[in-house]
Amino acid sequence: MQTTGLGTIHPMAADPTHETLAGELADLRTVMLIGAMDTGKTTFARRLAQAALAGGRRVAFVDADIGNSTVGPPTCVGLRLLDPAEPDAALERADALHFVGAVTPDRHILQQVIATAALAERGREAADLVVIDTSASVSGVIGETLKYHKMELCRPDRVVALQRGSELEPLVGMLRRFFSAEVTVLTTEPGIATVGPVERSAQRTAKLKEAFAEPLERWRVRPTVFAPTLPAGLDLGRLDGMLVGIQDGDGHCLGLGRLEYDDGILRVLTNAGEGMQGLRLGSVRIDPDGFECRPVNLRELIFGV
Ligand SMILES: Nc1ncnc2c1ncn2[C@@H]1O[C@H](COP(=O)(O)OP(=O)(O)OP(=O)(O)O)[C@@H](O)[C@H]1O
Ligand SMILES: [Mg+2]
Repeated sequence: MQTTGLGTIHPMAADPTHETLAGELADLRTVMLIGAMDTGKTTFARRLAQAALAGGRRVAFVDADIGNSTVGPPTCVGLRLLDPAEPDAALERADALHFVGAVTPDRHILQQVIATAALAERGREAADLVVIDTSASVSGVIGETLKYHKMELCRPDRVVALQRGSELEPLVGMLRRFFSAEVTVLTTEPGIATVGPVERSAQRTAKLKEAFAEPLERWRVRPTVFAPTLPAGLDLGRLDGMLVGIQDGDGHCLGLGRLEYDDGILRVLTNAGEGMQGLRLGSVRIDPDGFECRPVNLRELIFGV
């Protein structure tokens, strides 16, 4: 294993095709990785970032995987800015977050696409190369719609598609038809390690636990500070346990919070309360002990339908 600030890279990932390509793409402006689960997207993204840093370029790493995040906590798209002067800086600490509020993009295509595009844009302003690592949602109406609109708004000059067999053919065919960016298809190495659902879930809860690290504070919350707005007369007890994005007044997410309702009072538990102007309501309920996420249908929660 090689370990740098960009994390551990599997020795088998030193596949000459992958390595050479990473070196070639390091001079581009925006590169997006796509692929199903465990196809090596994040490894390639790290490699590309490393190659660009070695060439003296500043890198913006956009992590759009909201379920198993590398940068920042799950439920958010994260941006990490990497400078060649600090090659050992850790990738995991986010420089900016955009709240999506769910751990799968299935019912959150709008939020997911906007979050990724917004941080890619911020990355372009601050860095020479933007690397966009995406979620494993690559097929069916949801996966293809998601990737179509990400292409539309993030405008990568190159897409690297990692696939087993020919699983990405429909998606790649669609992207090539509708967009001018070159799509390079790579084969996933047969020896790639797969992460089972139990381990994935454990990784996610560990990351969420980190997002709720001490010092935590409880802030009293008025029902008027939410997006979406709460209807008058809503039983606030229904919000108990809901995950929220803590927002400043300038469109930025400062961190995560958990709503608590007790004795007629609504509070938010967070370590990111300084500068809080409003709360974005997520679509998961978070358990305070194990940090498990349970999906919630917001329309049902708010309007009861
Ligand atoms: N070329 C490779 N050969 C062998 N193992 C690899 C290779 N690339 C990555 N790996 C290992 O396989 C695992 C999965 O890789 P990685 O996390 O990059 O995939 P991913 O597509 O980002 O997965 P996810 O769907 O979870 O986001 C990691 O443990 C990584 O070290
Ligand atoms: Mg990944």
